[in-house]
Amino acid sequence: MKLASIAAQIDGQPMFKILEHAQQLEREGHDVIHFELGEPDFETPPHIVDGCIKALHLGNTHYAPASGIYPFKNSVANATERSRGFKPGLDQILVTPGANSVIYLALKCTLDPGDEVLIPDPGFPTYTTAILACSGNPVCVPLSAQSGFCMDACSVRSRVTEKTKAIILNSPSNPTGGLTKREDIQEIYQIAKEYDLLLISDEIYSRMVFDDHEFFSPSMLDNAAERVLVLNGFSKAFAMTGWRLGVAIGPTQLIKKMTLLNSTIVSCVPPFIQAAGIAAIEGPQDVASDMLEQYRQRSKILVEGLNLIPGIRCNMPAGAIYVFANISETGMTSVEFADDLLRSAKIAVTPGIFFGQQGEGYVRFSVVTSLERIQEAINRMRMRFHA
Ligand SMILES: Cc1ncc(COP(=O)(O)O)c(C=O)c1O
Repeated sequence: MKLASIAAQIDGQPMFKILEHAQQLEREGHDVIHFELGEPDFETPPHIVDGCIKALHLGNTHYAPASGIYPFKNSVANATERSRGFKPGLDQILVTPGANSVIYLALKCTLDPGDEVLIPDPGFPTYTTAILACSGNPVCVPLSAQSGFCMDACSVRSRVTEKTKAIILNSPSNPTGGLTKREDIQEIYQIAKEYDLLLISDEIYSRMVFDDHEFFSPSMLDNAAERVLVLNGFSKAFAMTGWRLGVAIGPTQLIKKMTLLNSTIVSCVPPFIQAAGIAAIEGPQDVASDMLEQYRQRSKILVEGLNLIPGIRCNMPAGAIYVFANISETGMTSVEFADDLLRSAKIAVTPGIFFGQQGEGYVRFSVVTSLERIQEAINRMRMRFHA
């Protein structure tokens, strides 16, 4: 059997390879501290689980409309009005199995072969793979540590060509926790308007912003009606990775086509999963804010601890669940550092190169383990690096 040539470019999510290696060590009896996956360690809050169970008992076990059930889309529209100041029409909303699939659906409905998409580097690896799977070309916009890993409008402008079709923005960002400033987002939006581009705004960490940092969405500039497509999901803020629940909000014409594609591939998102989504949005928000506070504290302790280790430097992230540490002064590449740390200290982290060329010299720590385990990891690293 001969696979399509495009199959050779499909790389998936490389951090799962680190998890496999770490689990192998655990099977051999080692105590591994996990920082490699962006997977919250908290359980899904009970009122969300109850929302789903109630829906199951009520018999909500059949096919649902391909774009999502009315009450859930209504909740999403109201939540958007509360958080972003505009209420999208229900025909601007598509419910998907996770935020990841929104990236693919949007690109598949937008790109012709050879079209270019500007993506952040370092950035979430799915962007590259999804663009390649849609026969497009990813064009990296380098983000620098000096600018807090924000996407800068001048770098975006200089990379637009007649082949450019879309820009992907991710703020707060995976892997850096960086937040792009309102002025830069406004300017990037203007560039998208000038060149008639789609602006895909990955806002999966929008509820996860620390201290007095300000989250800004480009959808506030066009009500997601013209060229901004917001993608959001429940995996991170509500600890719902396994539920596979995501949402796209965008221009009607695009959402309509994405809905048809979604119905072709997955038919619909189960209605009882969407009921859990309603419970998450409409229910008490203190559970999510408690988890956020814990991520903030963990990030702070980890950043302080890492900065005590010779050769490692890092700043406090503005949001999300990641600490992106500069390890270049250790003299190791990011892959060598991650291998060394796993072998010598049984600590699993993700090499920065997995997120793009600009990620070289860094490793990503996901703060998805308890403060005690973070402290234990710092102690192990201090021993390893003689601090
Ligand atoms: C930036 C970003 N976008 C999208 C996703 C996908 O999330 P989901 O679990 O909803 O598919 C992730 C998950 O790690 C992410 O970090």
